[in-house]
Amino acid sequence: MSLAVPEETSLAEAFVCNKAESVLSIIEKCLDNGTGSCLVVGDDRRLIGRISLDDIRRALADGTAIVDPTLGWHPAANMISANLLPNDIDRHELLRPVVDSTGHLTGVLIDRSAQPVQVAMPTLTSDDFRSMLDAFISGWISSKGPYVQKFEADFSRFVGVKHGVAVSNGTVALHLALVALGIGPGDEVIVPDLTFAATINAVLYCGATPVIVDVDPVTWCMSRESVKRACTPQTKAIIPVHLYGRPAEIGPITEFARSRGIAVVEDCAEAHGARYRGKAVGQFGDVSCFSFYANKIVTTGEGGMCVTDSQELANSLRILRDHGMSPDRSYWHERVGYNYRITNLQAAIGQSQIWRVNEVLQRNARVAALYREALKNIPDVRFPPPLPDEYRPVVWMACVQVPAEKRLPLMRAAHEANIETRSFFHPLSALPPYGKYARSCPTSIELSATGVNLPTSRAVDEQVVERVARVFHRVLA
Ligand SMILES: Cc1ncc(COP(=O)(O)O)c(C=O)c1O
Repeated sequence: MSLAVPEETSLAEAFVCNKAESVLSIIEKCLDNGTGSCLVVGDDRRLIGRISLDDIRRALADGTAIVDPTLGWHPAANMISANLLPNDIDRHELLRPVVDSTGHLTGVLIDRSAQPVQVAMPTLTSDDFRSMLDAFISGWISSKGPYVQKFEADFSRFVGVKHGVAVSNGTVALHLALVALGIGPGDEVIVPDLTFAATINAVLYCGATPVIVDVDPVTWCMSRESVKRACTPQTKAIIPVHLYGRPAEIGPITEFARSRGIAVVEDCAEAHGARYRGKAVGQFGDVSCFSFYANKIVTTGEGGMCVTDSQELANSLRILRDHGMSPDRSYWHERVGYNYRITNLQAAIGQSQIWRVNEVLQRNARVAALYREALKNIPDVRFPPPLPDEYRPVVWMACVQVPAEKRLPLMRAAHEANIETRSFFHPLSALPPYGKYARSCPTSIELSATGVNLPTSRAVDEQVVERVARVFHRVLA
C-alpha cells in the first residue's frame, strides 16, 4: 500500500526538484522531505528521474557536483522521461512518481512497504545543514565559536533552568556533575537498576560506590520509597533516570534528598521535554544531565549538557570541562579537570534542533498512538502503564512488553521484515561489573526481559506501523 501525496499541494513540491536547481537547494529538499530523495523534472514538468542524498554524496566526493552545481552531472538529467514510468522504477524505491501518458509528473507516492526501518533516526533538516555549514565555513570548528553559547542559552531556556554547560556527550555530563558536586571515594550514589550503563559508570569514574535500587512497576524509574530504603549516612547523591521518556517520581525524591542534604543529579538523557507537576525534568536536580546522541529527541551527533540554577555550580562545571583552567588566567589550572568540551559544529546542529523539538515530540507521540491502535487487540501486548496526572511523559522510543519467551521470535520476525527493534536495557544487576552493587530487583528484571522498543522516527508512518502490526499478529496471535 502506498501513501499518495497529491501533486497540487505544496507538500508534493517538497519532493520535486527542477534539473536546473542548485545542489545545495536539492540537498535541503531531500533533508526536509524526510525521504532523502527527490524526483527531478524539466522546465516543462516532464519527469526526468530521481536523485538521492547518496547520489549527491558521491558527486561531492569526486568533485563533479562542484564543477557543475546544477544536476548536469547526474544521470537523471539525461534520462528520457518515458523510461521512468512508475512500473519501470525499482519496487523498493521510497519515492515513486505518478506520470500521465505524456510523461508529465502528476503526483508523488511514498512507498514504505519494503523500506528497511531503523529503530531510531535523527531528524536532520535544512536548518541544521545551514547552521552546520556556517560553523564549518567560519573556521570555528573546535569548542570556541558562537554556537556553543547560543546552544547553551537556548537549551537551558527550553528546560527552564538558568545555566547550561554543553559537553561532549551525556556520559561525561553525568561525570562532570558528580565531580562538581564533590562526589568521590567513600560516597554512595543511588542509581536505578534499569538504565543505560553510563549512569552507573559515571559514579564509578569518581571512585564512589553505586547503590543500585529496583524500579517502580508503574513509572519504570526509581521511586522515593526505593531511595529512602537504600539511603545510608554515606549517601551523597541520587541519580534518578527518566527512562524511555517517563518521568521518575522526581518531586518527592528531590524533597527527600533535600531533607537529608543529599544531592540530586537528574539523568534526562531520554526525556527532553517530559514534565512532573508542571515543571520540566531537569528543573529538579542540583545539576541535570542531557544526552544529544543521534537517537535522542534533540541531537548534536555526540553531545550532552549539564543544566543548573546555581551560578556557583555552573562556574565549577565550566572550569572542570576545560582542563580545570581558570577562565581569567591562561594555562592556570585551579584543579585537575577534563577536556569534555563540545564543538561549535555540534552546537550549531543542536541550536537549530531546539527550534523543532516540539514538532519531534508531537510526532513521536503520534507514532506511539498509531502503534497502540494497531496492536491493541493482541492480548500478549502490554503498553506502558498510564501514569498519574502529575506525570507528563514524552515518547522517546515507543515501548511495548511481550511475554519473555516470545520476544526473540518476534524480534527475529521483525528483522526478516526489514524492521529493526530493540530489547530493553539489561538490568545493571545482571551485568558483570555492576552486580555486586545491587540488591534484589525483580521489577527491572521482568521489564528488561519483556520490553521492546519499536521504530520511532520520521520514517514511521501508517504503512510502517501496519508492517510492524503484521509481524506482531503473525508471531503472537
Ligand atoms: C539514561 C541514559 N543516560 C546516559 C546516557 C549517555 O549519553 P551519551 O550516549 O550521550 O554518552 C544515555 C544514552 O545514551 C542514556 O540513555
